Amino acid sequence: MTIGYFNGEFISVEQLVIPIDERGHQFGDGVYEVIRVYDGKFFMLEEHIERLFKSAQAIRLQGDQSIEEIRQLIHEAVEKSGLADCDVYIQITRGVATRKHLFPDVPVSVSMTIRPMKPTSDTVREKGMKAIFHEDERWANCYIKSLNLLPNILAKQTAQDAGCYEAILVKDGFVTEGTSSNVYIVSDKTIYTTPLSKHILAGITRMAVKELANGLGVPFVEKQFTTEELMQADEVFITSTTNEVMPIVNVDGKNIKDGSAGEMTLKLNAKLMELVKSVQHT
Ligand SMILES: Cc1ncc(COP(=O)(O)O)c(C=O)c1O
Repeated sequence: MTIGYFNGEFISVEQLVIPIDERGHQFGDGVYEVIRVYDGKFFMLEEHIERLFKSAQAIRLQGDQSIEEIRQLIHEAVEKSGLADCDVYIQITRGVATRKHLFPDVPVSVSMTIRPMKPTSDTVREKGMKAIFHEDERWANCYIKSLNLLPNILAKQTAQDAGCYEAILVKDGFVTEGTSSNVYIVSDKTIYTTPLSKHILAGITRMAVKELANGLGVPFVEKQFTTEELMQADEVFITSTTNEVMPIVNVDGKNIKDGSAGEMTLKLNAKLMELVKSVQHT
């Protein structure tokens, strides 16, 4: 079942637990991760925990919890939920203190939700998704998985209002990433994606897809591309922990090639699912 956790207590997600002075609530002063569990097994858990600690370090957030303790906590939460296929959202914030901008001398807050996650049906994936281009209005440190998601939320809602699934963010004419995904194009049997920098999140699925492309002998080029290059590409896809590898078949009302999901895209997703199934650790 769906369960929550806040500062030492497992709770129902409906329970009212966030103190009014919680800095996550007041300022968005914290970081988070999303981790997927397939058939009772975590997928790339260590990579997610490592990114969580890097994000925390980047905002000078220092909790008493060690990596080992956080790992244990996540394991305990999933075990308690009894869910075999779920996603784990974990947030660490700068704690509860009277509202002042300066760092308080209080313990960090740790919260989690564990919810069932149904696999995306093959029919939905094979049809692909529509997207829009949207100005990247975020800050200069998007490599931090921060709780501050207002520009992402506004862009995603704009996409939804236009009957689309994702907003592809654009800075100075170049694609950065999606509101909650990394973005790729396939041209001449080569995969292109935006290079890692402070302007995008280093996706864990991106890391997996890079390895899978290498395994398939498909060139994986980390290079900026423009909106025009994206529209001319043979295939476009996005990746994320929750979406896996998802085809984008139409952007701003115009089809990518014939508007069907790309062959390479679907192959990469199939390979990702093989990798998921081959993961041994629980
Ligand atoms: C802005 C952004 N970029 C990329 C990603 C993809 O990251 P991952 O593959 O680790 O889920 C996400 C995931 O939520 C995201 O929010």
